[in-house]
Amino acid sequence: MKYLNYAESCLEIEQVSIEHITQDHPTPFYCYSKKVLIENISDFFESVKILDPKVCYSLKANSNISLLKLLSSYGTGADVVSEGEFRKAMESGIKPSDIVFSGVGKTDEELTFAIKNNCFQINIESGSEILRVEKIANQMSKTQSIAIRLNPDVDSKTHEKITTGTKENKFGIPLHEALQIFKDKNKYKNVDLNGIAVHIGSDIKTLKPFLKTLKILKDFCEKIRSLGIELNTIDLGGGLSPHEREFDIKEFALATKKELGEFNAKFIFEPGRIISADAGILVTKIVSIKDSGAKKFIILDAGMNDLIRPALYDASHEILPIKESTKISKIPTEIVGPICESSDSFLKVDEFPDVSEGDYLVIMNAGAYGASMSSNYNIRPLAAELLIDKDRVKIIRKKQSFDELFHNEKEISN
Ligand code: LLP
Repeated sequence: MKYLNYAESCLEIEQVSIEHITQDHPTPFYCYSKKVLIENISDFFESVKILDPKVCYSLKANSNISLLKLLSSYGTGADVVSEGEFRKAMESGIKPSDIVFSGVGKTDEELTFAIKNNCFQINIESGSEILRVEKIANQMSKTQSIAIRLNPDVDSKTHEKITTGTKENKFGIPLHEALQIFKDKNKYKNVDLNGIAVHIGSDIKTLKPFLKTLKILKDFCEKIRSLGIELNTIDLGGGLSPHEREFDIKEFALATKKELGEFNAKFIFEPGRIISADAGILVTKIVSIKDSGAKKFIILDAGMNDLIRPALYDASHEILPIKESTKISKIPTEIVGPICESSDSFLKVDEFPDVSEGDYLVIMNAGAYGASMSSNYNIRPLAAELLIDKDRVKIIRKKQSFDELFHNEKEISN
């Protein structure tokens, strides 16, 4: 993370010592750097500026209202996948005219909510979903803009659990079926079918799958044009990896312009991870250290309920002690959480700085799909979230209380 450095052997985020933060806030908690977030969103706009796109930040990566307000003040709309995310985007001041509603299983209630609130575009994921949108819009005497999410059958060469663009995946509509839907466009009276969308996966590190997708889209757009249909929008989804990415986003933007520029549609991007991942860390305390005979276990007070990515995707998140240590313990070590699951494990290493019980560690790159995927498993309250702005620490989500956790069950238990 930029702006996370050791100063006199103590880790600082922007201008605040993390040790200092731990004196006021019980661990585990998330900490975000405002400066990194602003740089990430500004860099993204700069990289794609030749396309003059609509940038709809993907709420599923991190939907904290303060972060959404910050990002939207830099010009982002929202990509949402549920009524909850739609409401949170609006709560954060994002206008429905800047909201794209994606998602493979939208209910009638969710579609009704989106249409009633004048959603900019609903991305359709099945033939029957169009009929439902048509019916609901008709009941409200409205016309809803929709795009067809294509399944281009392109392997994005990322982790299989975050691959979404092949025909083995549940997402999108096969190209031949999508073409037929466009041929039938005039059958629909209450939907305005004027866009296409793709999203081939997440954390994608190579340009090739994107280039392949662009070629497929170009071919599809040509077919549509020969039907006399002009597209208003081409939504290219998200998926760009912030780490070890082998290409520059500007290259992707240039290729997009070259392949699809001639269709004069408004481009949409739905970036998530690339905006927030490296803006966040999870701060945690070592509860216990023990030796199993085979290895050393460092047991933290943060678990897979706080950050599930290592358990779910074998994701590797670097871990640093907040006090820089020159002594290295050269013993195979597994850094784990307190949850009663062997998969509640963050990192396995052959050596780790010499740390003790009670010391604090930070888990890096936790700003995307960290807090947003956290749960109450083992009845553990959701962690607090803090935003660091230079030398200021602002609580942007309070730690959940046990009262809040039990409330909905207490009402009916006696
Ligand atoms: N648009 C759509 C339709 C999506 O499904 C997603 C992510 C995005 C945009 C944003 O993708 P991004 O730019 O963040 O890669 N929980 C997993 C990631 C799941 C991504 C799901 N869809 C993880 O922690 O790696």
